[in-house]
Amino acid sequence: MVWRLAALLACAWAITVPLAAIASTPTLTRADLRAGQDLSGRWTYSIDPYRDGLAGFHREPAGEGHRRFDDTSVDAVTRARPNALYEYDMERSPAATLPQAWLAHDPALRHYQGLMWYQRRFDAALKPGQRAFLRFEAVNYTARVFVNGKAAGEHEGGFTPFSLEVTDLLKSGSNQVTVGVDSTPLADGVPPPVTDWENYGGITRPMRLVITPTTFVDEAWVRLSKDGSLAATVTLDGAEAAGREVRVRVPGLDLVMSGKASADGVAQLSAPAPKGLVRWSPEQPKLYDVVVEAGEDRLTDRVGFRTLEVRGGEILLNGKPVFLRGICLHEEEFGENPARTITEAGARALLTEARDGLNANFVRLAHYPHSEITTRLADEMGLLVWSEIPVYWLVDFKSPRTLALARGMLADNIRRDRNRASIALWSVANETPVGEARNAFLARLVDDVKALDDTRLVTAALLSERKTVDGHPEMSLADPLADRLDVLAVNTYNGWYGNDPLDAVPAISWKKTDKPLIFSEFGADALAGFDDPGLMRKFSETFQEKYYEKTLEMAAKAPSVRGLSPWILKDFRSPRRQHPVYQQGWNRKGLVSPTGRRKPAFEVLARYYRELKARGR
Ligand code: GCU
Repeated sequence: MVWRLAALLACAWAITVPLAAIASTPTLTRADLRAGQDLSGRWTYSIDPYRDGLAGFHREPAGEGHRRFDDTSVDAVTRARPNALYEYDMERSPAATLPQAWLAHDPALRHYQGLMWYQRRFDAALKPGQRAFLRFEAVNYTARVFVNGKAAGEHEGGFTPFSLEVTDLLKSGSNQVTVGVDSTPLADGVPPPVTDWENYGGITRPMRLVITPTTFVDEAWVRLSKDGSLAATVTLDGAEAAGREVRVRVPGLDLVMSGKASADGVAQLSAPAPKGLVRWSPEQPKLYDVVVEAGEDRLTDRVGFRTLEVRGGEILLNGKPVFLRGICLHEEEFGENPARTITEAGARALLTEARDGLNANFVRLAHYPHSEITTRLADEMGLLVWSEIPVYWLVDFKSPRTLALARGMLADNIRRDRNRASIALWSVANETPVGEARNAFLARLVDDVKALDDTRLVTAALLSERKTVDGHPEMSLADPLADRLDVLAVNTYNGWYGNDPLDAVPAISWKKTDKPLIFSEFGADALAGFDDPGLMRKFSETFQEKYYEKTLEMAAKAPSVRGLSPWILKDFRSPRRQHPVYQQGWNRKGLVSPTGRRKPAFEVLARYYRELKARGR
């Protein structure tokens, strides 16, 4: 009972604590366009399975000769003190080109999970009044960062950015940065230890030394509000933020909004939307240059303006009903040996296959925030986006630490990307079992979304129920969370999981819902090139092809469906999938193989979307 009361009290804390105290700060949006230097490139690395670099054999703090983050040259020290014992040497360790998950550094690291140390040197020379931040776009899973041998900070979570202020740690000239990356999933972590994707350990996205003035523009959220006016929320960071004059210019609209920041450094600006404003849409992904100025700082971005809402069972984009012709993606580039290293070219290849190959206007970026490169490209390419945080399957819904972690990830994701016109939906969960703690946990996340962003829709991938009505199977949603969501979504695998013969799938009906419904997942595995039309066994291309035909027939009859995002564009790595002939560690539900070879089902979906598009849906 005591632990229950304690758990409830702790949960109450995690539920009520203000977001600002949870999200990682600063946000430093568009870090790629800010002054500073890209730290991608050659880093040396050293695995540390027993975390010897953190604690000795009696778990006492690690000593000299073990602390990989010490600002030292082991070779030089041992030359000067031949009696010194060092059992590592980062400078003479193997090197890799980062960002890249470590499974691609060396085949021997294919299945390594644990602690890995990375190190490089870089030059810096701050001018008086300047501040410096190390910004990592993503480090999976926990990161400990040291600069010149001193702790700069820590972060947990493999898919959202974090920035650590290092102004006081930097030296003028050569500096050393060391990052201890631990990929070990935690029982109360987000995601939980068991998922259906590869746990790519490492520094998987770009890292940058960002240089700012004493007071700078941390985030500038510029959007078209539901009332049709343009609005900007500009958050300043620094001693002179309060009362500072802020200007937001949109040269392409000949528009200037200006005003003073409040005591907490936030300026709320607005103006009527100019007549000539071209709204962003998949058909016309119009982006405008936006320039934000405050004091000596200047931040730029490219922003599209559009409105999204739900009315009478329809999803309205710029006031018109839209059907989401989608596909799911994991963050994994094409290739036999992907390393979750998403480049502009790699993201463009995936999104182009979705948009031009499948005639899609929508992508579900599963199950975690994908790279900023991908969401910016979706803006440019005219693809609507579903963005989610990895509250997936069985996270520890009773744990206040887990809730605080999920709330932080959600806030970081929204702050990172709320200027992205492409993002239409924030999702707070995937296939989580209904229950008291879970419902409260997710309800809190939904409230956070609404508090952080009133211009988008909130959803979650829910599980369905199945009943027999008049002798026919009927699917429905019986999830209390549905009342809080703007758009409902369900993952359905009739015909793949379970024993429905494919020919029976079209007769499965779906109960009408009072809100728009997305089939956020459906799919079947097929090994590219494997076929036995006679037997129609699962994993054959013909089975997958027929599965799509029958499932799309079912979807076409479901009254409330306003979007589809089948599982999934490309086969992806998953340690759960170990059939020696068909899977070999890959989930084969892709419509294309790991290298992009299309399976016959690809054409079934492409044709279905082509026809929908032709009908203006
Ligand atoms: C689930 C889950 C996916 C998984 C898929 C599958 O619905 O959300 O992450 O990969 O099913 O079973 O292939």
